[in-house]
Amino acid sequence: MTEPSMWTRMTTENPEHSAAYVQRFRDLAAAGQDLVGEARLVDAMLPRSARVLDAGSGTGRVGAHLAAVGHDVVGVDGDPVLVAEARKEHPTATWLVGDLAELDLPAAGIAEPFHAIVCAGNVMTFLAESTRVEVLRRMRAHVRDDGRAAIGFGAGRGYEFTDFLADAATAGWAPDLLLSTWDLRPYTEDAQFLVALLRPA
Ligand SMILES: C[S@@+](CC[C@H](N)C(=O)[O-])C[C@H]1O[C@@H](n2cnc3c(N)ncnc32)[C@H](O)[C@@H]1O
Repeated sequence: MTEPSMWTRMTTENPEHSAAYVQRFRDLAAAGQDLVGEARLVDAMLPRSARVLDAGSGTGRVGAHLAAVGHDVVGVDGDPVLVAEARKEHPTATWLVGDLAELDLPAAGIAEPFHAIVCAGNVMTFLAESTRVEVLRRMRAHVRDDGRAAIGFGAGRGYEFTDFLADAATAGWAPDLLLSTWDLRPYTEDAQFLVALLRPA
């Protein structure tokens, strides 16, 4: 049986957590914060009208922007409250509830592989540790052979960058480019954030 993600454990312990998270992002949007930096980077990686999988899509923050600029976006997230918000606010993309460790979109009638997978907002650090490699494998299985993944998360959250890169290699990914921010600053040994642009190995 798939071990539940840390996010699922957190929201089970505190059922208010998801609604508070939704409200936080509504407030940030209302305050005019830039919430789409990750999406801008991913858009630059893509041909027009590309297929994008937003892995751990939350409220749809990233995928919705990619849909708004013309991409065909599917978002998958394990939190039904956040997926409901994404469906309500961003009906131009497809939002599904599901665990990334069990991702099987062809079984849900979405057979065509993706040009890119975006996994932003520390999703990797919320996975159950036992599912990390499987999630990366499932991502690989859903991307085209010439596709890529853009995965970003912060240091000090229980997933060492070196461990992540080793897990990605085990799952069939090779690093194309490592950055320390979504606005393209280079990765350094003391970076506090990793944005890994990966390609199928
Ligand atoms: C901090 S939120 C980020 C959401 C979104 N990517 C963003 O940046 O706005 C982390 C998300 O990861 C999702 N998540 C964590 N583990 C997951 C898993 N195994 N399967 C699906 N979603 C997962 C949670 O449900 C949550 O929505």
